Parts: sequence; structure tokens; C-alpha cells
Amino acid sequence: MGTWQKSDWRNKPRVQMPDYQDREALAAAEAQLSKYPPLVFAGEARKLRDELGKAGRGEAFLLQGGDCAESFAEFGADQIRDTFKVMLQMAMVLTFGAKVPVVKVGRMAGQFAKPRSAPTETVDGVELPSYRGDIINGFDFTPEARIPDPQRMLQAYTQAAASLNLLRAFSKGGYADVNRVHSWTLGFTEADEAARYRDMANRIQDALDFIRAAGLKAETTHELGEVDFYTSHEALLLEYEEALTRVDSTSGRWLAGSGHMIWIGDRTRQPDGAHVEFCTGVQNPIGLKCGPTTTAEDLKVLMAKLNPLNEMGRLTLIARFGAGKVGDHLPRLIKAVQEEGANVVWSCDPMHGNVIKSSSGYKTRPFASILSEVQEFFAIHRAEGTIPGGVHFEMTGKDVTECTGGVQAVSDENLSDRYHTACDPRLNATQALELAFLVAEELTSLRETRLAAAAG
Ligand code: PEP
Ligand code: CO
Repeated sequence: MGTWQKSDWRNKPRVQMPDYQDREALAAAEAQLSKYPPLVFAGEARKLRDELGKAGRGEAFLLQGGDCAESFAEFGADQIRDTFKVMLQMAMVLTFGAKVPVVKVGRMAGQFAKPRSAPTETVDGVELPSYRGDIINGFDFTPEARIPDPQRMLQAYTQAAASLNLLRAFSKGGYADVNRVHSWTLGFTEADEAARYRDMANRIQDALDFIRAAGLKAETTHELGEVDFYTSHEALLLEYEEALTRVDSTSGRWLAGSGHMIWIGDRTRQPDGAHVEFCTGVQNPIGLKCGPTTTAEDLKVLMAKLNPLNEMGRLTLIARFGAGKVGDHLPRLIKAVQEEGANVVWSCDPMHGNVIKSSSGYKTRPFASILSEVQEFFAIHRAEGTIPGGVHFEMTGKDVTECTGGVQAVSDENLSDRYHTACDPRLNATQALELAFLVAEELTSLRETRLAAAAG
């Protein structure tokens, strides 16, 4: 819109981006990427904005989740299917509990670039540049692997395109049909959560049987047979984002074609920085991570820049403070939003404020802290009379051992068993489902309070 250009971010201070040494190779990769088709269509991004708008008003709930960092090595159909399947299960649990539609957004098909807390890492006295995600450099701890390579952007694009293709097939091709609610449990770890899920699936099955007996067609309705599944990632690597940004012919407005929703990380949200500048000009729904250092003043400036028309669903504030700290920060940010009369969706990321180093040396997140942050988030919204609109998790459908605790009681010693993440520790399928049941309880109780208030 207006005079905004997709390259304007280049005139702003940038942080957390690689310094490509081979400028020619970079230019060639950008030129190539600029010719490739965008991965998403503007109408989809607008539909997601409308659905997020409902979440902001309490008429829907956002479930955003997936890998911390997608990796080239872990790429495969099973990986995508399993994460998709757990998200479907979680969405079913939330819909069943909260009685509102769940907006499903994967951290998938583009979540490759990572901000890091330090520019280098040292192992056994050897210091090398940090790993910044497979779209930038390699995970291996060698000097060669850690050199940023622009060709990686093309591989990331290819992987994102293939992932999105499979996600679209799963969403629309019958896999996500509610009538298959039982089959999504297959291969699931035997845990109380599995039994609890099966119990809920039985009740859903009963409802479907009833619908059928009453003469309605539960097989053929679009609402029951298909789902909308959206993609999202942190818009960190702006060369990649710019190359996939196009003008949408329907609206004449810019669209970041790399995914449906993009977000700005806690380390790149400088109001005058490159990342914010880029996000101001594209019409996609935008997420903004809010951490302990987010000031009310910055938030006000950011809301004005990122959502000048104050559209509900355009901006999702993703709170990530850490267990025990939500009360210190969320109320002052809610106040800033209220003072501006801003329309935002409030989502809770209980992952990024809860990373600790375990006694066994692995980076982990205790399930109890994750749960506690979610509960604090709900309690504060309840006290403030504002709307908890969604949750944001790092999770996988695989049975990994990366976060401690949960019903399976993963211990510090267990972490080495199946620790596969390319970056931060993720919830495994059982832990993710357990969390969904607990979030559903919060939503149910909120709904009952509202109904009681409306009745009284
Ligand atoms: C992330 O979502 O992976 C991330 C790095 O989060 P944050 O910017 O909130 O630290
Ligand atoms: Co992460």
C-alpha cells in the first residue's frame, strides 16, 4: 500500500541476520527465489485474518504449534503427518471443551531461521559462529557448516512447498474428516492421555451417529470432512521474505508469499528496525512476541505501525514471559492495549520463557512451568476481563524426550533417550495432548463463568 516497497527494510538497522560473504551467490539465490511462485494465496491470508479476528473476540481459539526449527535432515512425510495429527487431536479436544472453532496454524512449511542469544558458541574450547537454522547455515559443529550459504534458501523453499502440499492434501483430502477421529490415535503412546482422548472420541462418535440417525449427512458436509490448516513462521531472514513477497492482484496489496501468518521475534521487535519495517507493508496476519523487556511505550508504537487500521485479526500479541512472571508483565501490556483502544488477539507462548539447563546438560523445559504459565495467562485475562485468544507451542508428533515432566514423567536422565530437536526442546505428542486437555479445562471454566454471568 502507498509507497511502501518490499526492500525498504534494507535501510533500517537489522539484527540476527547473517552476513553473507559471497554477495554474488546471495544475489543469484534471491533472483532465483523471486521467480518462484508464492507458497500461499492472499485470499487464504485474509481468511485467516478473519478467523483470528473471531479468536480476538472469544468466538474462536487459536492453536499455533510445531517445530522450534524445521530441519532439512528431519524432513519427511511421517514427520509432517504426525505433527498435523497431534494438532488435529488437540484442536478436537479444545473444540469439544470450549465449544468454539479452533483456528489451526502450524509452525511449519517455513519455520527455518532462528534468532540466537549469542553470535558464537564454544565447545571444548573451540569457538564457532552459532547455528542459525537450516535456511542459513549447518547444524554440524565445523567451520564450513557454520558459514551462511544463500543456496540454503532455495532448499528451504522446496521443502516448504512440499510440506505445504502435503498439509493441503491432509486437510482437504479426507484425512482430517471428523468421522476418522478415532484413527488419529493410532500409533499413539499408551498413556492416560490416550485413554482420555479415546473417551472423548467415543462421545464425538455418538454425536455423529446421532446426526446420521436424524437424517443429516455427517459424511459429506464440508464442515466435518475438511479442515483449514494454515502455516506460519518467524519472518527473520528478510532476503528470503522479500523475494517471496508479491502484489496480490485482487487487492493490489503486498503479500508475504512465504506463509499465511508471519511473526516478529522477541529479539527483532525494535520499532525502528528492519523486521518491523518489513511486516508493516504486507497484508498477512502478523504475530508479535512480547517478552519481559517489552515496554508499554514500545508496544503502543508497534501496534500503531503494525495495525494502523486497527483491524481485529491483523495483530496477535504472543506473550512469552516465563512461569511466575506473567503477573509482572501481562497486566501492564493489557493496560497499554486498552489505553490505545487497540484490537489484538492475545496468545500465550509458554515455551520461550521457560528454558532451563537440566542437570544432565540438555536444554529443557519443565512441563510444570509450561502449564503454570498457561494458567497464569488465563487467570490474568479473567481478572482483567480480557480475552485469552490462543496458545503457541513448540511440539512434535514424535515421541521425543526434550521437555521434562508430564504424565509420562520424563526425567532429566531420560532427556538423552530421544533428544532430536534442531533448536529448542519440544513437547512430545503425549505432553502436547495433555496440555490441550488442560487448556480445554481453562476454556470450559471461562465459558461457564460467562454463561453464568449472562444468565444472572
Ligand atoms: C521462537 O518462537 O522460536 C522464538 C525464538 O521465540 P522468541 O522470539 O519469543 O524468543
Ligand atoms: Co523456539
